[in-house]
Formats: sequence, C-alpha cells, structure tokens
Amino acid sequence: MTRTASTALTTPTHPETVFTYGAPALKYGAGSSDEIGFDLSQYDVRRALVVTDPGVAATGHPQRVADQMAQFGIEARVFDGSHVEPTDDSLREAIEFARETGPWDAYVAVGGGSAIDTAKAVNLLATNPGELMDYINVPVGKGAAPVNALRPLVAVPTTTGTGSESTTICVLDVLSLKVKTGISHPRLRPTLAVVDPLLTLTQPPGVTAASGMDILCHALESYTARPFDSYERKEAAQRVPYCGANPIADMWAEKSMSLLATSFRRAVAHGEDADARGDMALAATFAGMGFGNAGVHIPHACAYPIAGRVKDFRPDGYPADEPMVPHGMAVSLTAPEAFRFTFDAAPERHVRAAELLDPSLDRSGDPRDLLPGVLTALMRDIGIPNGIGAVGYDEGDVDDLVDGALKQQRLLATAPREVTADDAAEILRASLSLW
Ligand SMILES: NC(=O)c1ccc[n+]([C@@H]2O[C@H](COP(=O)([O-])OP(=O)(O)OC[C@H]3O[C@@H](n4cnc5c(N)ncnc54)[C@H](O)[C@@H]3O)[C@@H](O)[C@H]2O)c1
Ligand SMILES: [Zn+2]
Repeated sequence: MTRTASTALTTPTHPETVFTYGAPALKYGAGSSDEIGFDLSQYDVRRALVVTDPGVAATGHPQRVADQMAQFGIEARVFDGSHVEPTDDSLREAIEFARETGPWDAYVAVGGGSAIDTAKAVNLLATNPGELMDYINVPVGKGAAPVNALRPLVAVPTTTGTGSESTTICVLDVLSLKVKTGISHPRLRPTLAVVDPLLTLTQPPGVTAASGMDILCHALESYTARPFDSYERKEAAQRVPYCGANPIADMWAEKSMSLLATSFRRAVAHGEDADARGDMALAATFAGMGFGNAGVHIPHACAYPIAGRVKDFRPDGYPADEPMVPHGMAVSLTAPEAFRFTFDAAPERHVRAAELLDPSLDRSGDPRDLLPGVLTALMRDIGIPNGIGAVGYDEGDVDDLVDGALKQQRLLATAPREVTADDAAEILRASLSLW
C-alpha cells in the first residue's frame, strides 16, 4: 500500500512528534502550609484526612495543619501510621483506616515521599472498587486504571527529595515478593502541592543527604533520558506519563542542578540554614516537574533491588527498627557508573550536567570521568556510603541485583542506551566500591 501524507502522520512507526507535560497547582514558600484550610475550603471540603508517618507526626506539623482547618469548618483527623517506605501491608492498613473512618472529602499528605505515596494509594482505593493489587503495575499487579475520579489531594512535602507532590506515582514494597514496584496513573497526581521550606528544617542530616541525592538523580536521569522524539509515534490512548527527555523537562532539570550546586552541601552540614533549605525545596519541586514527565532510568531501575533485597543496613536518621537502604541512597549508589555507561549517548549533556553541578569544574582529562567525579566527590562530602558494598552487597549478589534491575523495564525504556544483563552487571560490579 502506498502511504499518503495523512496516513504517515498516524502510522505507529512514524517518529514521535508529541510530548506531554503535567503538573499540579503549586503554592511555594515559607508559611504556605498555614493556608491549607482556606485552600481546601475552595474545594467544598467538609472532612479531610491528614496522612503522615510517626517521625513527621513528632515534629507537630501534621497536627498544626489539621488544627488550622477548623477555622474553615473542616473536620480533620490525623492518620500517622504511614510506613517509612510504604509496603503493600502498610498501604492496606492505611486504606482500611480511611474506609472505616470515611468517607473523606479530601486528603492532605504531610511528610516525605512515604506519607505522600500512602495518601495517593488511600485516595485511589477509597474512591475506586477493588483492592491494591488490581492497580499495581504489571507484571506484579494487574495495572488497572481507576474508573472513578479521586478526591482532592494536597501534598505537603517535609523532605527535600522525591518530588512525589508533583508526580503520578506511588512506590511500594510488595513484601511477599521482595520487590519494589508502583502504581502509576495520571489520576494519582496531587491536586495541589504546598511546598513550605520551613517544614523541612528538622530533616536529619542523613535524610537530607539521601533525599537530596534523589533530587539529583531525578534531574540527571530525566536530563539524560532517551529523547521523546526518538520513540515510535504513539496513539493518543497509548501515551504514558514518562515520555522521554524534552525541552520543558530539560529546563526544570538544569535549574534544579544549579540550585543543588549552591545549596546541597550546606543543607546537609547546616540544617538550620533557611536559604539552603529553600533552595533544596525548590530543587526537589523542579526535578519532580521534570522527571515526572520525562522519566528516570538506570540508577532508579538498579535502586529497586538494592532497596528491596536489603540485608542488615541501618542508615543514620531513619527508624532503626528495620534494615533499609533509603530510596535516595539506593538510587545514588549506581549513579556514577550508570552515567559513565550512558555518556556516549549524549556526551554534551553529561558534560553540561557536570558543569552545572560544579561551576568550577576542571575540564582536563577524559570527559567520561567528569560527571562520575562530580558525583562521587559530593557523595563523600555528604556521607553517602561508598558504593553498594558499603550497604551490604558483594560480588555474589550481582546476578541477583541484575535480575531485579532488568525487571524494571518501564524505567529502562527511558534509558538512552539499551541495557543488557551484561551492561547492568558491569555497572553494579563497578559500583561495589566507588572511591
Ligand atoms: N512518588 C514518587 O514520585 C516518588 C519518587 C521518589 C521516591 N518515592 C518514594 O518516596 C519514599 C522516600 O521518601 P523520602 O525520601 O521523602 O523520605 P521518607 O518519607 O521515607 O522519610 C524519611 C524519614 O525522614 C523523616 N522525616 C521526614 N521529614 C521530616 C522532617 N521535616 N523532620 C524530621 N523528620 C522527617 C520521616 O519520619 C522518615 O523517618 C520511598 O518510598 C520512595 O520509593 C516516591
Ligand atoms: Zn527517586
């Protein structure tokens, strides 16, 4: 059949010409969390459930947010049972609490990615039929799409990291399978992100360091992701939230890296520095707006098994009752080697990123070493462990970790190069000890 111009535009093999951008409404700044009662009253909310975790509850912020809703006639209750890094069990518990105490007109998540992701799952299952596994990404779950609209969700981050306040994702551990996976759908995106840097001042240094590496990897991975126009053209119904690197996501990633260059080390060493905290909060939001549309790739794919198969590592600043490799730490440990591997796909982007992160960068030597060098110098300075060996893995674990990383095909589809099992093994082996 001869192809006409009009069929050429709709044929699925035609290169992609379209990218998408989604983001929630945003309120940023010191004191912005004092206005949530008013904000909710704009959505005719009468009853709101505040979702948090025990560590954040201890700062008093969630209760303060709940208390100021009363002036607007809103009945609020705090659920402080989110698990730090949610599991299927912890999400089921939170969903059950919401279903028993509901119906709720709106949800307000006050906390890091753990509390925000818990609120996303609660909102999904309190407004839609079925159970958690129905909505979890395939192949772990059924990957069903919600049939009903969700209630308004206001996300109030207290860490400077995940960007979950602007993304369509909820990340969880499925305990019986020892696998980290997620739920991903545009309806999960919070209605309003309220980013109040004052709430982040109490983050312990270990949390600031790990969650800050999450920001950095979001920015770097989306910046170096496979470009949106290198994919085959999708039909309207096939579009996914992660569409590859594109000019809008690039802009957020670059700005995020510049803020990190100025303020990351300072925020870890001097947690009381309000300017550094403000920059980190902006950096997290910017990176979230970028990667939430472009996607992330190899470091995040490797992080899932690194966190999911943890042995006995207990990081400073996190609850000591269970071993864990926090998300941001897990992501950062393979980043230097992953970006060495992706260098050839877009050399100028890797060099540009290194320059943004270190404006006084010495550009002599092999350009492949620039970004890995900037990353390892930063990681040493802020107390990130020296590679996956330092969190308990050895050569004998590499095959198992490769297996887990390759299961993250949704993420690896955004990598700028194809990643074979041998490539992943090489990256993980070189990441056993970084310096
Ligand atoms: N949905 C997304 O888009 C997305 C993106 C990246 C990561 N994640 C997920 O988010 C989770 C990690 O979230 P996180 O890094 O924000 O940390 P977190 O929510 O797990 O919190 C880490 C620790 O810091 C404490 N804490 C948080 N804020 C505090 C504050 N202001 N003062 C004192 N203590 C505070 C918490 O109580 C907890 O013990 C992981 O489950 C990860 O997989 C989600
Ligand atoms: Zn992340």
